[in-house]
Amino acid sequence: MPYKILEKKTLADNVISLWVEAPQIAKKRKAGQFIILRPNDKSERIPLTIAGVKKDAGAIRLIAQVVGDTTRELADLNEGDFIRDLAGPLGHPTPIKNYGTVACIGGGIGVAPMLPIAAAMKEAGNHVVTIVGARTKELLILEDELREASSEFIITTDDGSYGEKGFVTDVLKKRIADSAKIDFAAAIGPVPMMKAVAAVTKEAGIPTIASLNTIMIDGTGMCGGCRVTIGGEVKYTCVDGPEFDAHQVDFDELQNRLGTYREQENKEEHNCKLEGKV
Ligand code: FAD
Ligand code: FES
Repeated sequence: MPYKILEKKTLADNVISLWVEAPQIAKKRKAGQFIILRPNDKSERIPLTIAGVKKDAGAIRLIAQVVGDTTRELADLNEGDFIRDLAGPLGHPTPIKNYGTVACIGGGIGVAPMLPIAAAMKEAGNHVVTIVGARTKELLILEDELREASSEFIITTDDGSYGEKGFVTDVLKKRIADSAKIDFAAAIGPVPMMKAVAAVTKEAGIPTIASLNTIMIDGTGMCGGCRVTIGGEVKYTCVDGPEFDAHQVDFDELQNRLGTYREQENKEEHNCKLEGKV
């Protein structure tokens, strides 16, 4: 069944925000859940987090960074166009409750999936300290919305062009060293960032979840594409996740598995370019 794009905006270079008509999903979705979509008949299926919802309008928000073919096909669609298929909500919701003080740590495009989690944690009565990182100011997205969803909001940029210069872990370490109270943490972003956050919070004894951005194929637990190792046990991100205890995740294996199809993707890109020229 096709799903209509109600609104499309560009948030930063190669980052788009779409509001999509999907009333059944909008009704059921909880923070932390995702959908799997196929932009066109011939597209691959990709997972994207449900970054927001307007229940009255029956719409869900998707925020995507264009990194390859399928995200490009999605970005090529415009307001009024239709997404070919969209399945969800998938995955377990974030365990939202009143922990006390919650640190929401997002990096890169991981800032988008963090938005509904920060908002839900604040609504549950937590003091939400959101720490987001970007390589440079122009790549920072959702600043106003995240500020509103948080009790405290801290920006870091690798190059110091905005907010504090450095990494999200620098801010986190400093707060912990200053004896700031943090009862729970959530991390979403590039694998090295989540690994670094997990190392800091493990040492400080802060329970932490990480949302894992594995490659997904069927999204039903059948294909094994999203396999991860958590505390020495095999788990499937699509049905057991996407969030896991960050202190138990084998981040090195995850990083290796994300590169599984890189060679084929490069070859396909090469072939496509050749086809285009012939
Ligand atoms: P491909 O051609 O498949 O890949 C291009 C490059 O990106 C390659 O180098 C490839 O190795 C790398 N890559 C592919 N998949 C991933 C991945 N999952 N993580 C990191 N690198 C990858 N992205 C968003 O922009 N917004 C979201 O809200 C979002 N939510 C996600 C939620 C979940 C549960 C998961 C598992 C992933 C999520 N992602 C999100 C990542 C998104 O699914 C991938 O970027 C997308 O599948 C890439 O498809 P592609 O065909 O455009 O690129
Ligand atoms: Fe196939 Fe999870 S995507 S098992």
